Amino acid sequence: MERTFAIIKPDAVKNGVIGRILARIEQEGFRIVAMRLQHLSKREAEGFYAVHSARPFFGGLTDFMSSGPCVLLCLEAPDAIKTWRTLMGATNPANAEPGTMRKEFGASIDNNATHGSDAPETAAFELGYFFRGLEL
Ligand code: CMP
Repeated sequence: MERTFAIIKPDAVKNGVIGRILARIEQEGFRIVAMRLQHLSKREAEGFYAVHSARPFFGGLTDFMSSGPCVLLCLEAPDAIKTWRTLMGATNPANAEPGTMRKEFGASIDNNATHGSDAPETAAFELGYFFRGLEL
């Protein structure tokens, strides 16, 4: 079994599609290990995306991620990291495959509905950033 970290981003929460995204997560066979609705502060978003701090989109990304509540998730499945990234689709919804979360619910590369860890080390950092050991 493998665990990954996922976010239902503020755009998807505002658009009222939390339930539809969670339904797909469950249909695809993930176990939801932990889940929390949280409105990130700008500082919390900056710490989470610190790896992107030198990128030109960092300010806009962290403004957006602190613009409203998110759903934070720990998902478990045999190949959770890759399976969730495949279900999300390409970062830019315009390039995402039909049926993926970003194609169905994302509007732009910034407002792209969901996040998922890209590697085991990232998943460990991201899960530890938001969840306490007891929650997992
Ligand atoms: P996410 O998977 O949450 O990781 C970083 C986010 O930065 C990404 O999704 C996008 O929403 C956002 N982003 C904005 N511009 C870019 C870009 N040019 N390349 C990658 N990510 C971008």
